[in-house]
Amino acid sequence: MSSKNRIPMIAGNWKMNLVSGEAAELAAALRKNLSPDLKHEVLLAPSFTNLHCVHEVVKGSPILLASQDMAWEEKGAFTGAVSPAQIKDAGCTHSILGHSERRHIFMETDEVINKKMKTAIKDGITPILCIGEMLEDRESGKTNDVLATQLDGDFAGITAEEASRVIIAYEPVWAIGTGKTATPDVAEATHVFIRSHMEKMYGKNFADALRILYGGSVKATNVDELMAQPDIDGALVGGESLKADKFTRVIHFQKI
Ligand code: 13P
Repeated sequence: MSSKNRIPMIAGNWKMNLVSGEAAELAAALRKNLSPDLKHEVLLAPSFTNLHCVHEVVKGSPILLASQDMAWEEKGAFTGAVSPAQIKDAGCTHSILGHSERRHIFMETDEVINKKMKTAIKDGITPILCIGEMLEDRESGKTNDVLATQLDGDFAGITAEEASRVIIAYEPVWAIGTGKTATPDVAEATHVFIRSHMEKMYGKNFADALRILYGGSVKATNVDELMAQPDIDGALVGGESLKADKFTRVIHFQKI
């Protein structure tokens, strides 16, 4: 399957790092380093409290902004939650949903993620839906079953037209923050499976247009070989996105 018609996206998930001054400084460095010839999308996902100040720095540039999570309710008595309107007001066009740290540390279920997906789509926010298997799933040959269950649950009741807004990020849990990247072959084979499962759900045209990012120890030193895979349409980067020079290199990946 050719990735020719899919616009690549390089996204930085800053997780629970940086105070506002540091976040603004990093965003400014990345904006300054951005090649004017860049043809693909670049996105940053700072903490909620840093969205406004990062937005001030990146507005007017091609850098897009995402929240790292989002409430499924629109407003009201939901202490600690942040609403779709609030993240849009802070400059977000995208929201990372179902990240493995939300699933495994904060016990988010596919049912909860499905509600967030529906709200994001309704409110015009592009979900970056994260899915991924644990090490024991991979070692016991259950990767595809786990991913299929997540996809079925997260897209339940969502039409093809609604789903066409969604970007998927495949992030094997065993590769996140461990320095253990999936080999380009393993990542590619898994992306092919995800695309074929989505084709079963929504048809071939949908699957051909669907962007699937890879995440898990993406570095300046391995991004080129990952991005050379036909079904890898971008990267969702954690640790390496906190270093201006390294993330600049990831953003400007080279065609090999
Ligand atoms: P690392 O790049 O630090 O492995 O994190 C990946 C990730 O979880 C991005 O969402």
